[in-house]
Amino acid sequence: MGNDTIKKTLIVAGLLSIVCSVVVSGAAVFLRSDQLRNKDLDKKKNILMAAGLLEKGKSVEELFAKFEAKLVDLATGEYHEDIDIATFDQRKAAKSPEYGIPISKELDLAGIKNRSKYALVYIARDEEGLLQQMILPVHGKGLWSTLYGFLALDSDMTTINGFAFYEHGETPGLGGEVDNPRWKAQWIGKKAFDENWNIGIEVLKGKVIPNDPKFQYRVDGLSGATITSRGVRDLLRYWLGENGFKHFLDRLRASEGTDRG
Ligand SMILES: Cc1cc2nc3c(=O)[nH]c(=O)nc-3n(C[C@H](O)[C@H](O)[C@H](O)COP(=O)(O)O)c2cc1C
Repeated sequence: MGNDTIKKTLIVAGLLSIVCSVVVSGAAVFLRSDQLRNKDLDKKKNILMAAGLLEKGKSVEELFAKFEAKLVDLATGEYHEDIDIATFDQRKAAKSPEYGIPISKELDLAGIKNRSKYALVYIARDEEGLLQQMILPVHGKGLWSTLYGFLALDSDMTTINGFAFYEHGETPGLGGEVDNPRWKAQWIGKKAFDENWNIGIEVLKGKVIPNDPKFQYRVDGLSGATITSRGVRDLLRYWLGENGFKHFLDRLRASEGTDRG
């Protein structure tokens, strides 16, 4: 039998595909732990970036060490201790029958349809155990995509220490300007809540004027991207409100002694 028969070609092709699939699946299994570690590292990096805590020369692990992850029951604002935080995936939970709840149209300011009953928050305390800051996961619809980010609040639970999205599919140069460092820098020091603990933060259509009496609550809209800007405003309204972190923040204010009422 010559080397160019159909049978031989098929045998060689078959053997080659078996060898290739063994190599590829072997590599996937072999690299799985590295992939999980990198995913975890990436998440920590995003969280630190939102809080403005990434520092050159310091490792992500070192900087993240002062944060403690806690699972919050959004309906009560209490910590929920019965789920393993290490394996909890808030995005998957939102869609699961066990942990997900549908959001009615009238309440769905963030345009997300479902949310997890529990949210994974990150709390930093100083050496004396006093609250330094907290990082809250937020997400909501822009124009083309769902934007996923983290909002860092100071110990007064209203001053914004940082706000950044780590995933979205908005248009570069338009809605994608949510990633512009100049736009992100504006959020730092703004107030999420007014003196009565109502949501104060807004994203304007246009620019904030420096002597605006509400300067501390206002952030410039993204030019040519009103829909994304509105999405950012509304997702914050959702997550800081009654159906988001309000109960958790109320509890924390009472227990950490920053309750103004
Ligand atoms: C190709 C293309 C991509 C766009 N991407 C975005 C976007 O990412 N975010 C957004 O809000 N508007 C985007 N727009 C513009 C919207 O359709 C809409 O005109 C805009 O949000 C209105 O904002 P303005 O009132 O600031 O002009 C895009 C438009 C086009 C044609």
